[in-house]
Amino acid sequence: MGKVSVGWQKFLHEPLRALQDGGLLLTSVDATGRPNPMTIGWASHGIYWGQPVLVVMVRPSRYTFGCMEMTGDFTVSVPYPDLSEQVALCGTRSGRNTNKFEECGFTPENIDAVRSPGIEQCGLTYFCRCVHRNDVLPSQLDESLVRACYPSDDFHRFYYGQIVETLADEDFSERFNT
Ligand SMILES: Cc1cc2nc3c(=O)[nH]c(=O)nc-3n(C[C@H](O)[C@H](O)[C@H](O)COP(=O)(O)O)c2cc1C
Repeated sequence: MGKVSVGWQKFLHEPLRALQDGGLLLTSVDATGRPNPMTIGWASHGIYWGQPVLVVMVRPSRYTFGCMEMTGDFTVSVPYPDLSEQVALCGTRSGRNTNKFEECGFTPENIDAVRSPGIEQCGLTYFCRCVHRNDVLPSQLDESLVRACYPSDDFHRFYYGQIVETLADEDFSERFNT
């Protein structure tokens, strides 16, 4: 069954459930054009500046960080539960020394508007163009969170991605929820 273009707000429950159950896959491309998927557990989507926007948080130590800075776009894919091994791999290995996209057996899913591909094996992908970024400021963050989340000062950068396309399997909801 093929992918179809859907409204960005069609599926709200599934991405949130996947965030809590192992994570979503954030894909960007490196300087050579190689796609690099990274597992994320913290994200949100909603309306910013009157537009649909997906917000992700990336630490500077990630290979993904340099990719995001370079291309200014990214995708976020919602994996089916049976991709849990691939999600674990993308959250523990780095694109610096591993071709994770290939190791996971992923197939790129491209659209014209952004360079970062989606992942065909995932049921739902948001394609995003970065419209704003800002850093977590320790002086503005609750002290208990600074202590709990940043023992090595690796403060996240927020990336706000305008959602320019959303592609989903026609039977995404049924497959995801069974
Ligand atoms: C469940 C889970 C959630 C994660 N969430 C994030 C996140 O939101 N932001 C982040 O910077 N790293 C997060 N990570 C860590 C990265 O996925 C991990 O460091 C990864 O290996 C980085 O890949 P890269 O070096 O190819 O970018 C998470 C890891 C796991 C397992």
